Amino acid sequence: MKDDLEKRIEEAVKNPQNLGEMKNADAIGTVGSADCGDMLRMWVKFKEEDGRKVIDRATFQTFGCQTAIAVASVATQMLAGKTIAEAMSMSGEELAAPLGALPPVKIHCAQLVEGALRSALSGAPTAVPVTGQSPASSPTLIESFAGRPAAKLKIVLDS
Ligand code: FES
Repeated sequence: MKDDLEKRIEEAVKNPQNLGEMKNADAIGTVGSADCGDMLRMWVKFKEEDGRKVIDRATFQTFGCQTAIAVASVATQMLAGKTIAEAMSMSGEELAAPLGALPPVKIHCAQLVEGALRSALSGAPTAVPVTGQSPASSPTLIESFAGRPAAKLKIVLDS
């Protein structure tokens, strides 16, 4: 019989929320896990609410395990309405909380989500990204995963 955590992860993976690139993002953050080699990217869009700058939306893409997908799904749902300071103060454990406590072997999966969020928010003191690399010009996650921008193929036929 499956435990509750496993069921919640399965549910989140079957129907992941906020999955995909955000074209008009204000900030992006990408991290890789030293533990497993997986990668996760998060896109964040801000808005003004009651005179405060808060997260409007967050989306993600990952080459990661099911736990990373599930944590990113629930975390991006929780981030809406949070200020940068509030979001920056959230640990991987807090971001994964709707799923329940993760086993020690899966904690780094939540930390991957936390890292991508912090990476995005640390470069986003204003409404416009100031990291020197606009979301539009950033390499795709697959390019980052490969470690270099995708090269165009040139086919040369001899004779
Ligand atoms: Fe790599 Fe979960 S095993 S993120």
